[in-house]
Amino acid sequence: MSGRLDWSSRASGPLLGSVRVPGDKSVSHRALMLAAIAEGESRIRGFLEGEDTRATAAVLAQLGVRIDTPSPGERVVHGTGLHGLRGTAQALDCGNAGTGMRLLAGLLAGQAFDSTLVGDASLSKRPMRRVTDPLALMGAHIDTRDGLPPLRVRGGQPLHGIRYELPVASAQVKSALLLAGLYAAGDTEVIEPHPTRDYTERMLAAFGWPIVFAPGWAKLSGGHALRATDVEVPADFSSAAFFLVAASIVPGSELRLQAVGLNPRRTGLLEALRLMGADITIENEREAGGEPVGDLVVRHAPLHGVELPEALVPDMIDEFPALFIAAAVASGRTLIRGAAELRVKESDRIATMAAGLRTLGTAIEETPDGAIIHGGSLGGGTVASHLDHRIAMSFAVAGLVATAPVRIDDCSHVATSFPGFLELTSGCGFALQAIT
Ligand code: S3P
Repeated sequence: MSGRLDWSSRASGPLLGSVRVPGDKSVSHRALMLAAIAEGESRIRGFLEGEDTRATAAVLAQLGVRIDTPSPGERVVHGTGLHGLRGTAQALDCGNAGTGMRLLAGLLAGQAFDSTLVGDASLSKRPMRRVTDPLALMGAHIDTRDGLPPLRVRGGQPLHGIRYELPVASAQVKSALLLAGLYAAGDTEVIEPHPTRDYTERMLAAFGWPIVFAPGWAKLSGGHALRATDVEVPADFSSAAFFLVAASIVPGSELRLQAVGLNPRRTGLLEALRLMGADITIENEREAGGEPVGDLVVRHAPLHGVELPEALVPDMIDEFPALFIAAAVASGRTLIRGAAELRVKESDRIATMAAGLRTLGTAIEETPDGAIIHGGSLGGGTVASHLDHRIAMSFAVAGLVATAPVRIDDCSHVATSFPGFLELTSGCGFALQAIT
């Protein structure tokens, strides 16, 4: 992780232009992992050059996988086959990445060797029992520090499939179990309380593993093989989200976001913003690499508060920090419920957004599973990112319409998911600067 870096965001003129945000983080992690244990050579295009996904690549390299970088955003992974990973006595550092650690826990549970997964200060506070408990039901042996990282995964444990109903909607937990299921005897079946992103399921099928799945449900059996395949990573909807909110709230704006992944399990924010009055259209809708993609064209529009339908929550779980900003400048009240998961993300996102917005003068009430946000105008001030990339980028958007500059302290973690954010945003008119 790079050193401390503060940003200052100021009122800006219209945001204009056409941008391509970096590749999808979820897809990039999964592409690396499946390619690593496939037979043959897989090429990944549009790979996210973020710190999270690079950490996963580095872990796989430590496990003996050769990964070439012919050009930025491209990886060629020389798969080892299902049983070709090699153990290492060194700790495997997942950095800031919950997805990396939780999915790798599933993958490593079925290996012949021991391994230890560690993370940075933020990841070291995130709950891991949600994966280690069901993995234990499959026969895995993983020690935690009272439910927190590091994870010590014992090798050589014979796994067996289970039927598991997830208590919380989590694509990471579902994916960890499916990856362990590749190594398990019999069927592994997962049932979710709400459907979550299905990239693992789609990608397993693309790599030739027999799997059946439908929204909220997936089932596979162990003992097959993955065949190398090429993966085209769409632009990350979660990164596009900051531009969708920014252009919606800055008068006169019109932005085109190119080739954004539009998997329906990711696009809840689109619906939420439209309910609030946003003007967003989808153009050039098509399929790329088995995923729906399209250009999003967003124009400024006056927003009004809403009671956010709870059913949208899992489909926009990473977009809440951006939505909080939209709600803070919308007219009237926005009510968010059913989003307790926000409290265990890279930071407690309900608390960090509430604290930052209060600093900027917003009336906001925190609830255990959401917030009530009274929209109005934003003032300036200094807000804390709590080393959470999405909090930093959300307050960068807030500054664009604030009556005085917004300083965001320590934005170094933005590179976990969005390398080049400053350059890309400046190019379309954000008055955003690094403070040295
Ligand atoms: C992710 C799933 C979500 C999401 C995270 C990425 C994934 O986490 O918040 O950014 O790639 O599977 P949960 O599984 O904890 O909901």
